[in-house]
Amino acid sequence: MRVLESKFMRDFINMVQEGYNQGWHERNGGNLTYRIRQHEVEAIRDRFYDHHDWLPIGASVPDLAGEFFLVTGTGQFFRNIPVDPEVGLGIIELDDKGENYRIVWGWAEGGRPTSELPSHLLNHQVKKRVTNGRHRIIYHAHTTNIIALSFVLPLSDEVFTRELWEMSTECPVVFPEGIGVVDWMVPGGREIGIVTSRMMEKYSAVIWAMHGMFCSGATFDETFGLMHTIEKSAEILVKVMMMSPRKRQTITPENLRALEGPFHITLDERFLYEKPDDSIIPGME
Ligand code: 13P
Ligand code: ZN
Repeated sequence: MRVLESKFMRDFINMVQEGYNQGWHERNGGNLTYRIRQHEVEAIRDRFYDHHDWLPIGASVPDLAGEFFLVTGTGQFFRNIPVDPEVGLGIIELDDKGENYRIVWGWAEGGRPTSELPSHLLNHQVKKRVTNGRHRIIYHAHTTNIIALSFVLPLSDEVFTRELWEMSTECPVVFPEGIGVVDWMVPGGREIGIVTSRMMEKYSAVIWAMHGMFCSGATFDETFGLMHTIEKSAEILVKVMMMSPRKRQTITPENLRALEGPFHITLDERFLYEKPDDSIIPGME
């Protein structure tokens, strides 16, 4: 089978297009990786090249040894990927230690994986373990409203989770485990990847302050839907803050707890703290 005919490839490209349409991928901003299933690899293996050298990943991911990933290339504009996926995308194979990778398909005009490969693979390694292999997608996007909020809200998991939950009844149902926040760090390396992947132990969405967001999921729809839901809620919060430093009414901790039974979710009480004044938006005092 031709690599571009694989269903995972078509779904991946659709997600790149959707993310671009949302305005989350200026220039080469953002990146996407998919941990390919064994039978999907077998169906296209005869199309792989074997002339590329092994190169260091920049992080150690032994639990991903021997796995194959579909990856956006560093410097590739999301806008161009659907037009010419063989230029913008590549498939990499990891070695038997999870220390090195080699290119087996793609980047037809030369290229290499996203500079955020260490973050992606460290997140994949954690999610493979904590979800028993269910999660296969890691997505990084430059979501405008989440970035804007990271300039004005206190950078804590508690504040971001609570304020985003309050902005949309859907939110606690879609991400009942909450959302993590990483303070500003230099992107593109192992350090930020380690901090992010520690948060991925308990969350499926992590904010990089003043930069963007990472989401993890089992399917393309689930992962994109998580990013979309969070960013939509952030947009509502930004609009509310533009109208007033105060909320006239809100979804209260009691309301949030009332969702637990009907929606079969458990909300961590850490996020349902009492506020001195429910109407004041943090950072707008
Ligand atoms: P890449 O072009 O290397 O994927 O980098 C884009 C980005 O968003 C860095 O955080
Ligand atoms: Zn980025």
